[in-house]
Amino acid sequence: MSGRILPRPVVPDPLSVPSLRWAILGTGWIAARFVEALQQHTAQRVVAVGSRTAARAAEFAAQHGIELAYGSYEELVASDVDAVYVATGHLDHFAHATLALEAGRPVLIEKPMTPRLSEARALADLARARGVFAMEAVWSLALPRYSVVRQVLQQGLLGEVVEVHANLGERLVDHHRAMDPVQGGGAMNDIGTYAMMFANEVLPGLRVLAAHGQRHAARGAVGQFHALLGDGAGRQATVSASMLADTPSTAYVAGTEATLSLDAPFYQPGPVVVRFHDGERLRYEEPALAHTQLFWEALEVARCVEAGLAESPLRTLDQTLATISLMEQARELMGDPASASNAR
Ligand SMILES: NC(=O)c1ccc[n+]([C@@H]2O[C@H](COP(=O)([O-])OP(=O)(O)OC[C@H]3O[C@@H](n4cnc5c(N)ncnc54)[C@H](OP(=O)(O)O)[C@@H]3O)[C@@H](O)[C@H]2O)c1
Repeated sequence: MSGRILPRPVVPDPLSVPSLRWAILGTGWIAARFVEALQQHTAQRVVAVGSRTAARAAEFAAQHGIELAYGSYEELVASDVDAVYVATGHLDHFAHATLALEAGRPVLIEKPMTPRLSEARALADLARARGVFAMEAVWSLALPRYSVVRQVLQQGLLGEVVEVHANLGERLVDHHRAMDPVQGGGAMNDIGTYAMMFANEVLPGLRVLAAHGQRHAARGAVGQFHALLGDGAGRQATVSASMLADTPSTAYVAGTEATLSLDAPFYQPGPVVVRFHDGERLRYEEPALAHTQLFWEALEVARCVEAGLAESPLRTLDQTLATISLMEQARELMGDPASASNAR
């Protein structure tokens, strides 16, 4: 017996975290999943929803038992709420998060915080200048699974980490938004952002050395890409994403003592496996409950707001900026700069 054990997740009791009054900005697919997750698993209260139209706000409010419905995002952020969840499309996050921050509301912003580094910097600057909490909604990082990953890395169980790999592929080529270039769609913004996030969280400080991808002939957005990241000092990562096929969607972190693997989809709830150089294999089990687990990120916001923090240590603004910088570097090398992919 080696005596090795995997750490247990360090996460709060979902019902014990202080309850915030949440406002939902936008009424699309992820907004509904987020509200359902909070209502089913936490003491968080979703009290208001805002939409571009009063009718849609009222419909969403009725579907989800939400008290207040507003026909504009401006009215929503002016209402008496503790936190705003921005659930609009990628290119609208900047404007809508700005609205919330200027109203002094702590804000959780769907990923990517914005696809443009200049806008992400402006949001971070605004949040910091106002002293208002802001966090990119990378829900993976708040999951119990990723608490285990973080502790394995912090405890040095893998030895020296030399390589990271993350792949994510889902056939979404016909999706109304996710492959629409006018809405900032494509493999980089919708799902590649998770793979870039993973590489950057595990090995911060890498830069993109090479990237290849191409626009889908019919839809016009980037259908798939591969990128090679490195630091010139022996640490490297490979990152890839596809909207054309359901690729393995796994990730690993390879170290001199052991390799950590996350099976598909690596950014959602699921197990963690650590395989040591001597052949021993340790496994943490977690059911693959997908988007029902979106509530963990809301608990992290509530915990931080209650503690008076302006950022979450699980997803600092600097880590968000670093991820978006990697996305921009890859786009440049692919000949698909943000300005081209985001034309509206
Ligand atoms: N965490 C995850 O796993 C996950 C999964 C899916 C998506 N997301 C992220 O969540 C964001 C939203 O994705 P989604 O799939 O929920 O999108 P969606 O279903 O298209 O919803 C987007 C919402 O944005 C609002 N909106 C404002 N201006 C709009 C415009 N010009 N055109 C269309 N909609 C507009 C609409 O709400 P109103 O009509 O009420 O104003 C719409 O319902 C994206 O940034 C995406 O990356 C995250």
